Amino acid sequence: MKLQLLCFLVILAVAAISAEFVCEEHVPYKENKCNNCSCHKGFLACTLMACPWVKENTYDCEVGTNYAENCNVCYCVKGMGTVCTNHHCN
Ligand SMILES: *[C@@H]1O[C@H](CO)[C@@H](O)[C@H](O)[C@H]1NC(C)=O
Repeated sequence: MKLQLLCFLVILAVAAISAEFVCEEHVPYKENKCNNCSCHKGFLACTLMACPWVKENTYDCEVGTNYAENCNVCYCVKGMGTVCTNHHCN
């Protein structure tokens, strides 16, 4: 019984560490080089435009990875694709 509980806790901890991307309130984001997003209580609300002019396949990224792009950071988010902060860089 005790061992089972321990296993359960370990699984929970792993799930928390590999937790999904959580956005930051008041930070502007851009989804897949197209839609603008804002963050509400940890969830992104994005515009829903189709962007046929975006040629890059930003959906096919490796979930959980992130990289810097100028002054912004891009994250690969499960079920969403690439989400970058959308700060104006000098
Ligand atoms: C995102 O915001 C920029 C700057 O305000 C605007 O030019 C662009 O049209 C917006 N994109 C979408 C998909 O709404």
